[in-house]
Amino acid sequence: MRALILLLVASAVGASADCSCKYLKWAKCETQGQTCNCTVAVVNNTAHPIDCSTLISKCQAMKAEMFLLTRAAVRSLGKPTEHALTDEDGIYDPVCERNGNFNPKQCNNTNQCWCVNSAGVRRSDMGDLQLKCDAVETYWIRIDLYHRTMKTALNVTNIRTAIETLLQQYKLNTSLIEKVDYNKDRSLIVVDIKKPMGDRTVDLSRMAHYLEKDVKNLTLLTNPNPPVTVGGQPMSFERATVYYVDEKPPTFSMKKLTGGVIAVIVVVALAIIIGLLVLFLIRKRESKMAQVH
Ligand SMILES: *[C@@H]1O[C@H](CO)[C@@H](O)[C@H](O)[C@H]1NC(C)=O
Ligand SMILES: *[C@@H]1O[C@H](CO)[C@@H](O)[C@H](O)[C@H]1NC(C)=O
Ligand SMILES: *[C@@H]1O[C@H](CO)[C@@H](O)[C@H](O)[C@H]1NC(C)=O
Ligand SMILES: *[C@@H]1O[C@H](CO)[C@@H](O)[C@H](O)[C@H]1NC(C)=O
Ligand SMILES: *[C@@H]1O[C@H](CO)[C@@H](O)[C@H](O)[C@H]1NC(C)=O
Ligand SMILES: *[C@@H]1O[C@H](CO)[C@@H](O)[C@H](O)[C@H]1NC(C)=O
Repeated sequence: MRALILLLVASAVGASADCSCKYLKWAKCETQGQTCNCTVAVVNNTAHPIDCSTLISKCQAMKAEMFLLTRAAVRSLGKPTEHALTDEDGIYDPVCERNGNFNPKQCNNTNQCWCVNSAGVRRSDMGDLQLKCDAVETYWIRIDLYHRTMKTALNVTNIRTAIETLLQQYKLNTSLIEKVDYNKDRSLIVVDIKKPMGDRTVDLSRMAHYLEKDVKNLTLLTNPNPPVTVGGQPMSFERATVYYVDEKPPTFSMKKLTGGVIAVIVVVALAIIIGLLVLFLIRKRESKMAQVH
C-alpha cells in the first residue's frame, strides 16, 4: 500500500515536471490537480481538449492546423497572382467526433458537403447539407517515398530496416508493413501498410499524416524525430505521396472510378485537379498490374 502511494506520488510529480504535448507542438498544456491537460486552439477560437499520450488523430491535428492557417491568412497579403497555388492538400476545418475520428460527412463550415473516409479524404461527389454518408474505413495505405541521394549503397534489405525504424517512430506495429519495394533509378521506396478489413483498433491515417508532415519539413512533433540512418548515413526524403484504399470503393459518379478493381483515393497538393489525378493514377496502376501479370 505504501509502495503504491509512493508510486502515485512519483507519477504525479513526473507529470507536473513535464506537462507538455510531445505529439502536437501547437498544444497548450496545464497541470490541473494531478493531471496534465492539453488543449489546442481551433477555428472558432475555442480550446479543444486533446489526448497527448499518443499521436493526435488526423482530424484534430488538421483542425488545429486550420486554425493557424486561417489566422495566417488574415495577416498575409494573400495570393500573389490568381493562379498561385498553395500546398494545403485540400485541407479543411473538419468536424471531429468525440474519439477524434473524422465525422463521415464534412462541410467545411459551408452548405456544401462531401463524404470522407477514416483518413478524412473525400470519397464522394459534393452534395448539400442533406447528403448521407456512412463511416468507411481506410484499411490500406501506400506511401511513395522519394529519398534524397545517399552515399550508402541502398538495397531492399537495408531499406526495409530503415522503413521499419521510421514507421516505429510513428507508433506503427511493423507487422502491418506488407511490402517494401525499391526502385533505385527513381530513388523511390514504395511501402504498403495494410490492416485486416474490419479492424478498428489501429488508425492508419495518424502515422501517414505525421509522416507526410515530417517529409514536408512541417513536423507536428514538439521535438522532431532523429532521421533514420542507413549504413550510418541519415536518410531524408524529397517528397511523399500517400494513397488511401478504403474498405468500400468511393462513390464518385464518374464511371471510370467505380469500375476499378481497387478504389484508390489520392491526396495531392493540387486538390482542384484531384479527379483527373485519380484517373491518371488508376490507369498507371492498371498498366503496372498488367506488367506484373
Ligand atoms: C483534466 O483532465 C482530467 C482527466 O482527463 C479531467 O478529469 C478533468 O476534468 C480535466 N480538467 C479540466 C479543467 O478540464
Ligand atoms: C467551437 O467548436 C467546438 C468543436 O469544434 C464546438 O464544440 C463549440 O460549440 C464551438 N463553439 C462555438 C462558439 O461555435
Ligand atoms: C475550406 O474553407 C477554407 C476557408 O473558408 C478554404 O480556404 C478551403 O479551401 C476550404 N477547403 C475545402 C476542401 O473546401
Ligand atoms: C545491402 O546493403 C548492405 C550494406 O548497407 C549489405 O551489408 C547487404 O549485404 C546488402 N544486402 C543485399 C541483399 O544486397
Ligand atoms: C504487432 O501485431 C502483432 C500481430 O497482430 C502482435 O502479435 C504483436 O503483439 C504486435 N506488437 C506490438 C508491439 O503491439
Ligand atoms: C526544415 O525547417 C527547419 C526550420 O523550420 C530549417 O532549419 C531546415 O533547414 C529545414 N530543412 C529542410 C531540409 O528544408
